[in-house]
Amino acid sequence: MKKVQITETVLRDANQSLMATRLPYSDFADILPEMNKAGYYSVECWGGATFDSCLRYLGEDPWQRLRDIRKAMPDTKLQMLLRGQNLLGYKHYHDDVVEKFVELSIKNGIDILRIFDALNDFRNIATALEATKKYATKNTVASGCISYTQSPVHTVEKYVEMCKELKNMGFDTICLKDMAGTMSPYVPLILHTHCTTGMAYMTVTKAIESGIDVIDCATSCFSNGTSQPSTETMFYALGQYGIETGLNEDVINKVNDYFKPIKQKYVDSGRISAKSMATDAQALVYKVPGGMLSNMIANLTDMKAMDKFDAALKEIPEVRKDLGYPPLVTPLSQMVGNQAVTNVLMGERYKIVSKEVQNYFRGQYGIAPAPVSESLQAKILGEGGKPVDCRIEDAKRTGEDFKKAKEALGDLAKSEEDVMSYICYPDQAMKFFEDRKAKEENICTYVIEEA
Ligand code: CO
Repeated sequence: MKKVQITETVLRDANQSLMATRLPYSDFADILPEMNKAGYYSVECWGGATFDSCLRYLGEDPWQRLRDIRKAMPDTKLQMLLRGQNLLGYKHYHDDVVEKFVELSIKNGIDILRIFDALNDFRNIATALEATKKYATKNTVASGCISYTQSPVHTVEKYVEMCKELKNMGFDTICLKDMAGTMSPYVPLILHTHCTTGMAYMTVTKAIESGIDVIDCATSCFSNGTSQPSTETMFYALGQYGIETGLNEDVINKVNDYFKPIKQKYVDSGRISAKSMATDAQALVYKVPGGMLSNMIANLTDMKAMDKFDAALKEIPEVRKDLGYPPLVTPLSQMVGNQAVTNVLMGERYKIVSKEVQNYFRGQYGIAPAPVSESLQAKILGEGGKPVDCRIEDAKRTGEDFKKAKEALGDLAKSEEDVMSYICYPDQAMKFFEDRKAKEENICTYVIEEA
């Protein structure tokens, strides 16, 4: 029997796309043992924005979250999304930092590392791949990921070429983020898409007909809208096609029953907005990913500027063109999105250019897919200024970053994982460690008083 397996995204991408990654561990802890029995290909539970959100908003240690999930789901492959040389931050890190991060991710429980670069500049994922192979256990899978987008320079031939390149680099599987199945695979192919535009179920169906091996889905109450297609719907549909998923019907329904009231809680609080649950075919024009949309809505709402939402949306393709058509995935999605919002709020294009966009023009993120706007380049780099090659400048293995971070933290750091959190998110991690210390001191005082 033909088999198509399913990755459950509720803990990471569905959480990120529908509610800006604000799901605390306590909201899903109790269902993990049940999810462990479902028969998923994998559970995507870490990486992406979860790391940032744990430190910044939820007061959680992201590494502890990973260890807890690992413990509760011993039989399930745990998957993370890793932004290559950016790790889980918004800039490029040195090779030794990337290697350490991968080592610690595997050590703390990750099996599948889905690694991508926002510009599909694969030099930026080579170090992460190398480290994955170096620290691999028998369960480790290095999944090379292509960021799919449409533009005058992104042709089908180009994507076929990228697939071959990933295969030659030595990835175990290839994942197409948002891609319709167009090529015959020699390595397992995985499709990751979002329901934002309403196309996902058709895309997934076509991909299955073309031989896709794994599809990303979310338990039905956390599916659709800016999230993934529904796990149970695909389970039943594939069953009717005579295709096996290996999922346990009872368990996946229990998982959905568990998450229903949780979803309702966040709908009631406004954290999950009606906009992110709806279908918006206009995204076909703006090409805005789910996480970016829910973040833009959150930011504009916080700034009380939701009336500028449509204008900002329209500004996105303009900024994207000026940047040489980067695929809109993190960190490029935030950079393009924030610049578009700034342009609209300032009432003038590039009156203020964010530090990240400036660094992008300096070449610090890799090579843009198409030529960038010459006038904007001249504005940022000066007349005749040229970007430098990020790999030559930034790839050093000095160990300095780790040493410096360790010194800066002093006794606030209790582990290598803490140091890594600080390297990725200095301000947020520092605050988290200070809060943690204060809490511990309180507990100590209490114990002494008791005695
Ligand atoms: Co996604």
